[in-house]
Order: sequence, then C-alpha cells, then structure tokens
Amino acid sequence: MGSRRRAPRRCGTRQQRVPFSWIEARYGLAVRLESLIRRLGVATRPPRDVWERGLAQEVAWWEAWIDGDGRRWPEVYRERLDPTAALAEPVLAECIEAISSTRVSILDVGAGPCTSLGKTYPGKQLEITPVDPLAEEYNRLWARKGIAPPVPTRACRGEELRARFGSGRFDIAYARNALDHTADPALVIRNMVGVVRCGGFVVLRHSANEAVKADYRGLHQWNFSIRGADLVIRRLRRTVNVSELLRGEVSEHCDLLRDEQGEWIIAVFVKRSGRASPSHGATEPPA
Ligand SMILES: C[S@@+](CC[C@H](N)C(=O)[O-])C[C@H]1O[C@@H](n2cnc3c(N)ncnc32)[C@H](O)[C@@H]1O
Repeated sequence: MGSRRRAPRRCGTRQQRVPFSWIEARYGLAVRLESLIRRLGVATRPPRDVWERGLAQEVAWWEAWIDGDGRRWPEVYRERLDPTAALAEPVLAECIEAISSTRVSILDVGAGPCTSLGKTYPGKQLEITPVDPLAEEYNRLWARKGIAPPVPTRACRGEELRARFGSGRFDIAYARNALDHTADPALVIRNMVGVVRCGGFVVLRHSANEAVKADYRGLHQWNFSIRGADLVIRRLRRTVNVSELLRGEVSEHCDLLRDEQGEWIIAVFVKRSGRASPSHGATEPPA
C-alpha cells in the first residue's frame, strides 16, 4: 500500500501566523476582560475605596523612579533636586508676575516625592509648600537613598487642606497631575480656593482624560476636560462641573494646551474678594 505523503508544509507566513494570532486573540480578550472588570470596580466602589486600593501602586511607581535616578527622565530627576533650578511653569510665571510683593507663597498639592516647581524666580523669593498624602513613604525612600530634597514634601491630603492651613494663607495653590488621583477632586479644589488669599490664584495643570488613558489603573479615577468654557471632571457614573461649583466665588480661565507631552487641561481661578468661602464638607458620599 502506497502511503499518501503529505504535501510539504509551506513555510509561508500564513501557517506560522495562525497559532500566533490565536494566542494574540486570547491575550487581547483577557486584557479587555481585565479592563472591563477594573472599570466595573471603579464604577461601583466609592471613590475613597478606589483611592485606598491604589496607593500602593503609586508608591511603587515613585520608588522605582527614585531608585532609578528618574528612570527615563534623569534630567527631570536632577532638576527637581536642584535648589537653584528656575521655576519653569509658564502659567505660574504669569501669576507670579501679577503679584506685587517680593515674597510669593505657593502651595503645591499632590507634589509627589519632590515638587515639580523650580525654586527660584528672578526678583522674587519663592516659599514653596509641597504636600502629598504619601509624603511619609516618599521621605522614607529618600532617606534610604541618602538624599534630602531641597524642599521636603509634607504629609497632607488635599481633602484636608482647609483643616491644616486655614483660610487665605497662600498667594497661589497649584496642582499638577495630582487631583485626578484624589478621592474627591471637587472638594480639593474648593479647599485650594479656601487656602489662597483674596486675589490669589488656584492653578491646575492636568493631562486631559488621564483616567481613560491609564485605563483606570491605580489612583487614576477622574478625567479632566473642558466643556464649552467650563472645567469638568468626570468619573464613571459621576460628573462635576467645577466652574459651576465655584461660580461667583472666583473668576476663571480654562484652556486646552497641546505640547509634545500631549494635551493639558489648564485652569486658572482668581479668588474674588468680599465673599465668604463656602462650607467645605465632603462632596462625595462617605465611603
Ligand atoms: C502623578 S503624581 C504627580 C506628582 C507631581 N505633582 C508631579 O507632577 O510630578 C500624583 C500625586 O498625587 C498624590 N495624591 C493622591 N491622592 C491625593 C490627595 N487626596 N490629595 C493630594 N494629593 C494626592 C499622589 O500621592 C501622587 O504623589
């Protein structure tokens, strides 16, 4: 009996790609399923709960950054540790120019392990107060490395700013890529308005729709965007129009800026005088 010989396998791309695309398809499905489960978790859990669960991931990210001398961003690392670095945030520079006094006090909310703000500005004396709820963990990481940042970060959640600093204490309150990481960004912004003096500035710089971009991983649970002329913050199943919330209390200017790092939502609020600050109860239901 003559055996039927199989036709030799072709080494073409098709035969090699079949099992690969099968694995790829299953992997893609697993990733999509994981993402769906994560988003469901964020949608159904109280923001404070999501926040607490995400803290360890945030510390791990910054631990790798400190231990790796800034990893892919060594120049950022060096600049942040340089006590002579010039303040390079253009939005803040405009505010500083508008302040007549030589001393300018700036609160940096959610500053991370070391503030992103340069420490010097021509003709001004900057007094920077960086705060972050993870400050103790960050400072432990610095101590382990034997480094002391020029302006150490102090422990404080943005939701507790008023209780900690009182009213009218700063010329400027600033937050960069931090409020999208908080449990209650609307409360933090109201607190920032509370802690600046009348005529003082609240400056927010956030990457547009960061929670979506990060697929709601870690602390990312809020998206900053601009609707019409209003600053709007969205989470799964919740939207806060910040401009409406602060109407009458501040004058504001919101902008979408694009640069090589992507899209930035910039909001500048100027606190109006002669009006009492609102009550600063939590805007989220308790966890
Ligand atoms: C992506 S980092 C940004 C750090 C720094 N602003 C920067 O631009 O490099 C976000 C920071 O927000 C902080 N954060 C998280 N929850 C916060 C809260 N409730 N109040 C203030 N900061 C918070 C995190 O601990 C983290 O250090």
